[in-house]
Amino acid sequence: MQPLTNTSANAATKPVFISLDGIDGAGKTTHLNAIQTWFTEQNMPFIMTREPGGTPLGEQLRSLLLDPKTQVSNETECLLMFAARQQHLQDVIVPALQQGTHVISDRFTDATFAYQGGGRGLPWEKIAQLEQWVQNGIQPDLTIILDVPLDVSLERIERSREKDRFEQEQSAFFQRVREAYHARVAAHPERYVIINAHREREEVKADVIAAVNRLMQNQGANT
Ligand SMILES: Nc1ncnc2c1ncn2[C@@H]1O[C@H](COP(=O)(O)OP(=O)(O)OP(=O)(O)O)[C@@H](O)[C@H]1O
Ligand SMILES: [Mg+2]
Repeated sequence: MQPLTNTSANAATKPVFISLDGIDGAGKTTHLNAIQTWFTEQNMPFIMTREPGGTPLGEQLRSLLLDPKTQVSNETECLLMFAARQQHLQDVIVPALQQGTHVISDRFTDATFAYQGGGRGLPWEKIAQLEQWVQNGIQPDLTIILDVPLDVSLERIERSREKDRFEQEQSAFFQRVREAYHARVAAHPERYVIINAHREREEVKADVIAAVNRLMQNQGANT
């Protein structure tokens, strides 16, 4: 798979790839809805997708990966994440971008660095090798990291639903995941916006939409 090139003659229509990430319960799904509304109001073509998942195979892998009954090594867990991601890029993300459709994904590779790297302890170099192989240079134009303290994350998870295989981990796991997100932002600040999501929804939403707006203006897509 080749890296994506902008085939559009009109820079005003250059599609963007946005991912939303952060620890469980940070508010990704909540604020994806706000982004969806924004793109709809702007009358811009877009798709919403998610990881792991986004394709029939990816969704099957997601079910396995999130199922508390699944027994899997850390390495296999990481490889399955990238297997799902390859299919997702090939079948969904790259074709959408090539057609001029904006792509918004609930999680992407930062989650692998955070959960399989930070949480499980796999070396980032190994994950970076898989990233290079599978993505071949394709990266989100913008990654919004929603950041909440651990106790807020755990409290929101408790409140909202039954815990999946990752959510059953101990708080030390989530602490490492959160720290890994911070380290990702520090290592590549140009691609990220980190937002304090431990505030009123409307305040968080305003920051999320402002970040999307800035990106679109930079891309010349808002004119
Ligand atoms: N700013 C906020 N203040 C209070 N509650 C919030 C806020 N944002 C989200 N919530 C609530 O917290 C819970 C988790 O939010 P949400 O499902 O959007 O998180 P998530 O990041 O998508 O979680 P997951 O990673 O598990 O999918 C939901 O019940 C949601 O309504
Ligand atoms: Mg969610």
